[in-house]
Amino acid sequence: MATTTTRFHQKHTSSTKIIIIFFLSLSTFIAIVFIANTIFHSYSSTSLSIASNWIVDNPNTTTITPPQPPLEVKRFLSATFADLPAPQWNWEQMPSAPVPRLDGYAIQILNLFYVFSGYANLDHVHSHVDVYDFTSNKWVERFDTPKEMANSHLGIATDGKRYIYIVSGQYGPQCRGPTAIVFVLDTKTTTWNNLPPLPFPRYAPATQLWRGRLHVMGGSKENRHTPGLDHWSLAVKEGKALEKQWRTEIPIPRGGPHRACIVVNDRLYVIGGQEGDFMPKPGSPIFKCSRRLEVVYGDVYMLDEEMKWKVLPPMPKPNSHIECAWVIVNNSIIITGGTTEKHPVTKRMMLVGEVFQFNLDTMKWSVIGKLPYRVKTTLAGFWDGWLYFTSGQRDRGPDNPQPRKVVGETWRTNLSLS
Ligand SMILES: *[C@@H]1O[C@H](CO)[C@@H](O)[C@H](O)[C@H]1NC(C)=O
Ligand SMILES: *[C@@H]1O[C@H](CO)[C@@H](O)[C@H](O)[C@H]1NC(C)=O
Ligand SMILES: *[C@@H]1O[C@H](CO)[C@@H](O)[C@H](O)[C@H]1NC(C)=O
Repeated sequence: MATTTTRFHQKHTSSTKIIIIFFLSLSTFIAIVFIANTIFHSYSSTSLSIASNWIVDNPNTTTITPPQPPLEVKRFLSATFADLPAPQWNWEQMPSAPVPRLDGYAIQILNLFYVFSGYANLDHVHSHVDVYDFTSNKWVERFDTPKEMANSHLGIATDGKRYIYIVSGQYGPQCRGPTAIVFVLDTKTTTWNNLPPLPFPRYAPATQLWRGRLHVMGGSKENRHTPGLDHWSLAVKEGKALEKQWRTEIPIPRGGPHRACIVVNDRLYVIGGQEGDFMPKPGSPIFKCSRRLEVVYGDVYMLDEEMKWKVLPPMPKPNSHIECAWVIVNNSIIITGGTTEKHPVTKRMMLVGEVFQFNLDTMKWSVIGKLPYRVKTTLAGFWDGWLYFTSGQRDRGPDNPQPRKVVGETWRTNLSLS
């Protein structure tokens, strides 16, 4: 009896062992397949990323079909990358900017719209300002930026009357290094001056003029990828610094570049953005851009006189590259286009074609309209009832939200908010 029990027990134990070993090897196998798959996808998305992120005029390269997920995987995907339902708007095309621009910057002072620098393509950056006049609807002026000024990933702000402050940014094409130099442009005389440099250079930091101080926060650190949390400010008046150095302020809860930074009703808002960005390929003499992990988010942070960050409702979808894609109309913030979370399976970049409204009376977001196409790094302005946008990198067509052509097109629509 005892032996039978023991034998049974032994038998039972060994079959349990076999089952355990079977499951262990099965899970190891699954893990290996999963890891290989992940490596394959990150490798393939890295090697394709430059082609998908920048202008490709070879029609053969646009026909690559992204790997399709099996149906059961599709069901569990989060769809944050997808277009949101939005009313179609009528857009009127206006005179295009003299040059196409990606990662350009813009400041509106009354009827004049100052459009700064940016990339023409990965290997060429602009170093001039084009000026559009909303009253004549013409590009009316062009002048150079200082030789030492950054060409993209700027921080930019204005007093709304005369002076434009340009902080830090990337100097040169591809994924070159940043500069900490700070400039101020007097738009009345078209003259440039220096202000004290930032304590450390930043790529595309959130920047605004608030309560007499130029505030600079977040952005990417010197390696172009690591999110910075630091927040500095400098007292300025009439284009001059009132202090010799920047003051350290309360750090922002989440770092990273390409966010909208807006002051309205004496409060400072920081909206959207991303953590991580392209980095220079190690050892590349031209600092060739290579894609790295990016996390796009829709977070909204707000500072008031208490000087403590408050968290507000996030955007309807994650959105980045919107630093100059906003206007303030009737106590609402309006944001045009951007770029959202990558496709979860193909890892392709996904552009945004919606117009968003953040109503500051209700602190609620809504999707109010559609742009003529999905586009990131647009430059938005508002004049006499018209919402304008110009420039950026647009999609490949109505059915393909991946980025393609860098444009200088200008559009407007007669905005009517409810
Ligand atoms: C596209 O591919 C076809 C066939 O392979 C080839 O003949 C053609 O030259 C290619 N076009 C370009 C622009 O590379
Ligand atoms: C302005 O918008 C309305 C719809 O809200 C449209 O009917 C009208 O044609 C537009 N006007 C112009 C000049 O585009
Ligand atoms: C802003 O409000 C004013 C006054 O209520 C109104 O006339 C105007 O049409 C509004 N502007 C937009 C863009 O909705």
